[in-house]
Amino acid sequence: MQGTMRVIEISRPGGPEVLTPADRPVPSPGHGEVLIKVAYAGVNRPDALQRAGAYDPPPGASDLPGLECAGEIAAIGEGVTEWSVGDQVCALLPGGGYAEYALTPAVHCLPVPDGMDLKAAACLPETYFTVLTNVFLRGGLEGGERFLVHGGSSGIGTTAIQLASHFGARVFATAGSDAKCAACLGLGAERAINYRSEDFVEAMRAEGGADLILDMVGGDYIPRNIKALADDGRLVQIAFLQGPKVELNFAEVMVRRLTITGSTLRPQSVKSKARIATGLRTEVWPLLSAGRIAPVMDEEFPLEEAAAAHARMESSQHIGKIVLKVA
Ligand SMILES: NC(=O)c1ccc[n+]([C@@H]2O[C@H](COP(=O)([O-])OP(=O)(O)OC[C@H]3O[C@@H](n4cnc5c(N)ncnc54)[C@H](OP(=O)(O)O)[C@@H]3O)[C@@H](O)[C@H]2O)c1
Repeated sequence: MQGTMRVIEISRPGGPEVLTPADRPVPSPGHGEVLIKVAYAGVNRPDALQRAGAYDPPPGASDLPGLECAGEIAAIGEGVTEWSVGDQVCALLPGGGYAEYALTPAVHCLPVPDGMDLKAAACLPETYFTVLTNVFLRGGLEGGERFLVHGGSSGIGTTAIQLASHFGARVFATAGSDAKCAACLGLGAERAINYRSEDFVEAMRAEGGADLILDMVGGDYIPRNIKALADDGRLVQIAFLQGPKVELNFAEVMVRRLTITGSTLRPQSVKSKARIATGLRTEVWPLLSAGRIAPVMDEEFPLEEAAAAHARMESSQHIGKIVLKVA
């Protein structure tokens, strides 16, 4: 495919205003890759980190922001057998979603769930890949366990609440307003803790402690998470909105047999992300197709207004996913 496409570039590290519309050549798929004509692109907090200069794309990835999209396959590279031109997909991207066309490994595409529109489908990959990996594969959440997710109203949080409650966990969430707490309860949390007026450590201790905590906040939440865990509990760290460095007394980790782990999705190998895609297709996509879970949609912005989308995300007023309409 030839020609140019509209994209959003990061003109320099900075605030939302550095997101600049531009034209670029349409890329060609290499071996094992597909080219997607993007209909919608999901907006994620890591896009804002990349824009600010704090999260560089991995080697070989597009320098354009955008980690997920939904649309139609426009071209396939050599060796691709699982998809054909014209198929509608949603896809995890190594970058480059804020554009009319995006490349990704064919094995990182998933079908659009039955009955779901492309706008909602564009908001699935980044959070579902992240939650399956960190809550279930790494965190080992099991039915009946007490699960605490911080940032319960975020894209990640709204996904984690729904999946964990669907698989039978007792879900607790923190959020920064009563409206966000109400949203968490509506998604299946049995208790939502407004962290501005209530201490989540006391709330979890009153329940016997959390068996698993998914944390994106870090900073002083790290020692507080340790206190909020039940004996043998696990803490999975996926981001550090309040910073990664803290002083910690590890005696409690040892004596109460706690596990501290974490991961980031983007730098993982193509093969590793393909395995996650397979797990999602088998375990989670049937739930989406049956309408038993669904992404929580916040606001839609045109591609050209990506800066406004980032400003909304960084205002933290949103609940669920912000999306860019591309075509
Ligand atoms: N490790 C991975 O593989 C991976 C993958 C994707 C995303 N992530 C991370 O997961 C987090 C959530 O991503 P997302 O796209 O779902 O983001 P998001 O929708 O923007 O949500 C972030 C939420 O965190 C809450 N929050 C708590 N403390 C905060 C603080 N100090 N500063 C800013 N926000 C704070 C905010 O809600 P309140 O009003 O409740 O404070 C906000 O809504 C991000 O940190 C992202 O980098 C990690």
